Amino acid sequence: MYTQGLDQKDKSAPKREQLETPEQLEAFQARIDAEEKIEAKDWMPEAYRRTLIRQISQHAHSEIIGMQPEGNWLTRAPTLKRKAILLAKIQDEAGHGLYLYSAGETLGVSRDQMVAGLLSGKAKYSSIFNYPTLTWADIGAIGWLVDGAAIMNQIPLCRCSYGPYARAMVRICKEESFHQRQGFDILRVLCAGTAGQKAMAQDALNRWWWPSLMMFGPNDADSKHSAQSMAWKIKRFSNDELRQKFVDVTVPQAEFLGLQVPDDDLVFDQESGHYRFGEIDWQEFIEVIKGNGPCNRQRLGKRRKAHDDGEWVREAARAYGEKQAAKAAA
Ligand SMILES: [Fe+2]
Ligand SMILES: [Fe+2]
Repeated sequence: MYTQGLDQKDKSAPKREQLETPEQLEAFQARIDAEEKIEAKDWMPEAYRRTLIRQISQHAHSEIIGMQPEGNWLTRAPTLKRKAILLAKIQDEAGHGLYLYSAGETLGVSRDQMVAGLLSGKAKYSSIFNYPTLTWADIGAIGWLVDGAAIMNQIPLCRCSYGPYARAMVRICKEESFHQRQGFDILRVLCAGTAGQKAMAQDALNRWWWPSLMMFGPNDADSKHSAQSMAWKIKRFSNDELRQKFVDVTVPQAEFLGLQVPDDDLVFDQESGHYRFGEIDWQEFIEVIKGNGPCNRQRLGKRRKAHDDGEWVREAARAYGEKQAAKAAA
């Protein structure tokens, strides 16, 4: 099992990077430039491996933590049909987390190590899931905006240079588009309902709009990993390009719903064909990333408890595995 960087034992041994030759690095980049997929057993630079482990594990953690704000509404969904749809959607997210942990494991890090990173607070997950779901309309806003932003981010990942990640994303993206539509449909019904229901939808948009724009990460000028990830074709578009695409697609949908995007600076620029939008409150983003968002402690606390509560299942599975192995050896 590969553990360097996570659990390095021999401090005097040269780091893997130091053993990499310029020829190896050049040959690797040539494969990337030729649009070849890099597979688990292929040689890869240590920094490429580490970047992917960080990104894939953060992605997996986001899927798992992201179940919490929606799970909060499962027992309060307004109809049986909405409940069944929401339940299916949340189960999809669990599945996404599991494919992604598996994709991460192909890079030589164990699922236990990745989960330990999340539970210790060392590994990050998407800042959006640290906001509370106060009303049923928030479930609509999450599907429409949060899954919508996730799709923008994830469609290009289907062409990511690392094969196992790219392939996991294909199915995930299909499911995300169902998630986006179910969210939009919740808001469509609320917006066609009573004045109170429409106000609830507007309030949800007011609270989720800006955090959704933050999901694309810092502006390009401040994004420290972006340039290298683009060169390695892990990333295909910059944060600002993806954010712009999201705004261009989503503003007309808000208009269709009869909702007002909470941005006084939002204007359609005829010349470029894009919407111009106001400045994001980056201070808020930084605070949420640092662990000071409205629900950070609650989310991690709940995940830790769920992990502890599941210990008996892991223990039973281990005991069963040992029993089977003993039987096979006998
Ligand atoms: Fe997902
Ligand atoms: Fe989703």
